[in-house]
Formats: sequence, structure tokens, C-alpha cells
Amino acid sequence: MSGSGPTVLVTGGAGYIGSHCTVELLQAGYDVVALDNFVNSVPGPPGPCGLPPSLQRVQRITGRDLVFYECDLLDKQGLQQIFQDHKIDCVIHFAAIKAVGESMQFPLLYYKNNLIATINLIEVMEAHNVYQLVFSSSCTVYGNPESLPITEDHPTGEVTNVYGRTKHFIEGMLKDISAASKKWNIIALRYFNPVGAHPSGLIGEDPTKEFTNIMPYMAQVAIGNKPHVTIFGGDYDTVDGTGVRDYIHVMDLASGHVAALRKLKEKHQRLKIYNLGTGNGVSVLQLLRAFEDVTKNQIPFKICDRRDGDIVSMYANANLAEKELGWKARFTLPQMCEDFWRWQTMNPDGYRNCKVENGTSKLAAHNKSSVNENTKKNGHCENPTKTNGNSHNCGALKQNGHTHGITPEIVQHNGHKD
Ligand SMILES: NC(=O)c1ccc[n+]([C@@H]2O[C@H](COP(=O)([O-])OP(=O)(O)OC[C@H]3O[C@@H](n4cnc5c(N)ncnc54)[C@H](O)[C@@H]3O)[C@@H](O)[C@H]2O)c1
Repeated sequence: MSGSGPTVLVTGGAGYIGSHCTVELLQAGYDVVALDNFVNSVPGPPGPCGLPPSLQRVQRITGRDLVFYECDLLDKQGLQQIFQDHKIDCVIHFAAIKAVGESMQFPLLYYKNNLIATINLIEVMEAHNVYQLVFSSSCTVYGNPESLPITEDHPTGEVTNVYGRTKHFIEGMLKDISAASKKWNIIALRYFNPVGAHPSGLIGEDPTKEFTNIMPYMAQVAIGNKPHVTIFGGDYDTVDGTGVRDYIHVMDLASGHVAALRKLKEKHQRLKIYNLGTGNGVSVLQLLRAFEDVTKNQIPFKICDRRDGDIVSMYANANLAEKELGWKARFTLPQMCEDFWRWQTMNPDGYRNCKVENGTSKLAAHNKSSVNENTKKNGHCENPTKTNGNSHNCGALKQNGHTHGITPEIVQHNGHKD
């Protein structure tokens, strides 16, 4: 870390959006302390101090170091230790589990992981006088749209799934804490449908749970790993009968977070909510055709019955973010497909079996040497499908262990595509 800019704690930093956002943060001059429990991301090399491959790549892209902890937000003591060891200025809270289908099967798992983790985070922030927070919310809080494009003042709460309810409850909690104490300065960003990857092809989406987002699934079909894409519902009242969504490039989302941090610094608003979307509705079939154009591969698909609870059309009015954050999505649909495809073809196994990045990976500064030693010894991020205490560098965290309560059995159970 350069020690120059404000320090941002990024929860869920090894994940898809967290790792892309970390690129933008480092490039914008922030210092980053990231944490993750690897419930849905690939851990680092076996051994005491493995920086996850996504963040090794982030260091390579940016030429800057960051600090990483393997830490579960349900482990409050571990979290406290991080706040004691670093002067955190603000937090971006990505860490959550997000598979809609799984959330319906295991609701308590979702309430526990997403709600208790957020309560722990808020309490530890308060205890350390940190009141600047950006929260990852979702357009799912809107439920079935009454009008489109959807604005931030559209009613929320008629959510059709447990995952979405966790986001809705957290938004409610943030509203209450910011009303109770004027110290809080919070921005909740309601993402629409993140797709794509960093244009370098070095980082992308590689969940350890079953794919829940459409683009990684399409890519698997395009390279022949899966037989076809299943499209739920072909008779909706849309351009071609398939559902319509607002796909947004993950790097546009990432720049939205930097814009949000800038806003938190310049204005104390207690709690403000912004949509992050492009404003363009794209049907599943249109996305599939755009992906075929880029990959030059045919992508077989099957249209099945509609699923209960699926929303027909959802796209954003993102004017508020443009007006108040000075942010606007820039990437086009073909660019989203091209960038994802580059990531997929450069990394057919995702982060598994990837080479450790030229010996530069570093964890918390106080354990740098052992990390480098470990890096040299292993040479590879071997496929650690599920971490078992492959731990970070913080004695206290290591002692407390890994207490997220998501058993491997449950992790296996998630064969849903949402
Ligand atoms: N990707 C989407 O389609 C989408 C859409 C709207 C909102 N969001 C939200 O954005 C955030 C990031 O999503 P993403 O797509 O990057 O997902 P992701 O699964 O790739 O990243 C989330 C990361 O959080 C970690 N994590 C989960 N629970 C944790 C815990 N208790 N302690 C520590 N780490 C934990 C996971 O291991 C994972 O690396 C999530 O809050 C998600 O709900 C995502």
C-alpha cells in the first residue's frame, strides 16, 4: 500500500464485483484492505497466507499492492481485529450470498449470512468511529415494476425471493441507523444486471457456487462445457417473448463506487440511494445473439415454462446517479460480451490452475515475507474448490477460525440458475 490515499475496507473483495471495484479504487489512489471468506470465490494458494488469484491479478493490473484478510463477517472478533490494525476511512460492503434459488431453499442461511454479517459490520464500524459506507443493493428490492424505467422512488418491499428480502431489510436497517445517528453517511447502490469483465481479460466472474448469472453460463455453453442455455419463459409481453433486463458492464459498476465515495466525501447526506444501470432494456434472446456475434459460436438454447416469481421486464432510470454522482454507464452491450469472452477464453478454468502472479502477491504488510516465500514454493494456485482454513495473515483471525456456518454440504446443494 502506498499509504497516501484514504483507506477503503472492501468486504467480499475476492468476488466478482469486489475485485473489479478494487481495480478502480487502487487506480483512483485509494488504499484497499479487502476481506473475504471464499464462500463464493477462489481462495489463494494452500498455506498460511494465500492472496486469492482475483486479487493477485488486481495487483498486476494496477501495479499496486493491497492488504487481504480471509475473514468471515460472522466472525466479529476477526473483523474487529482488522479495524484495530488499520485506520479504515470508509467501507464498501459487497460481501453477501446472492443465489435466488438457493435463498428459497435455505432462507436462514441467507438471513444469517447477509443480515448478521451486516449488523456485525455496522457495529464494528461504529465502535471504530467509521461512518462512511457504500452498500451493494439490488434492483430486486423493487419487486414487480409498476412503471419502467424504474426510478429510486418506486415502492420497494414486494420482493419475490429471500435473497432480495435480505437486501430490502438491510436497506431498511440503513435507513433506521442513519435516522438515529447523524454521523452516518451511507450510499446504497441498486445494481441492475452486472456482466462483462475487466478489458485486460485478467479478472472476471468465477463463482465457486453453481453459476447464478447468465453470462458465465452462456460462455460455458459457447465453449462446449454445457449443452444449452435454458431460458425460462418465451411468451412474455416483450420484444421477443423473453425477459428483459438492464445489463451493465462490471467496470461501469466499479466506477460508480468510486463516484459514490467521492460523493460521501463532498456531501453528508445520511442515506442516499442510487440506481446503477444503463437504462437500456435487453431481452435474454438479444443478449444471447449479441454474445453469439462476439464469440462467433452458436449458443443452443431451450425455452422452458416461466418460473414463479420471475420479473418480466426491469430496467433502470439512472438519471439521479448521473445528476448527483456525475456517473453514467459507458460500455455497450457488444463490449460487455467481448470483455467477458476475452476473460473466458484466456481463463477457460477461471482462476483455477492459474499461475501465481510473478511473485508480487502480498498480504498484510506485516507478513509480506512469508507470502512471497509461499508464492515461490507453490508456484500455482491449485484448485482449492473449497477453502479449509487456508488462511490469512492475522493471528487473531486465524485463531478464531472460520465461522461462517456454511457447510460444504450446503454449498454443494445449490444447483440453481437465477
Ligand atoms: N452480481 C449480481 O448480479 C448482483 C446484482 C445485484 C447486487 N449484487 C450484490 O453485489 C455484491 C457483490 O456481488 P458479486 O456478484 O460480486 O458476488 P460474489 O459472490 O462474486 O462476491 C461476493 C463475495 O462475498 C464473499 N462473502 C459472502 N459472504 C461472506 C461473509 N459472511 N464474510 C466474508 N465474505 C463473504 C464471497 O465469498 C464472495 O467472494 C453482493 O452483495 C450481491 O448481492 C450482485
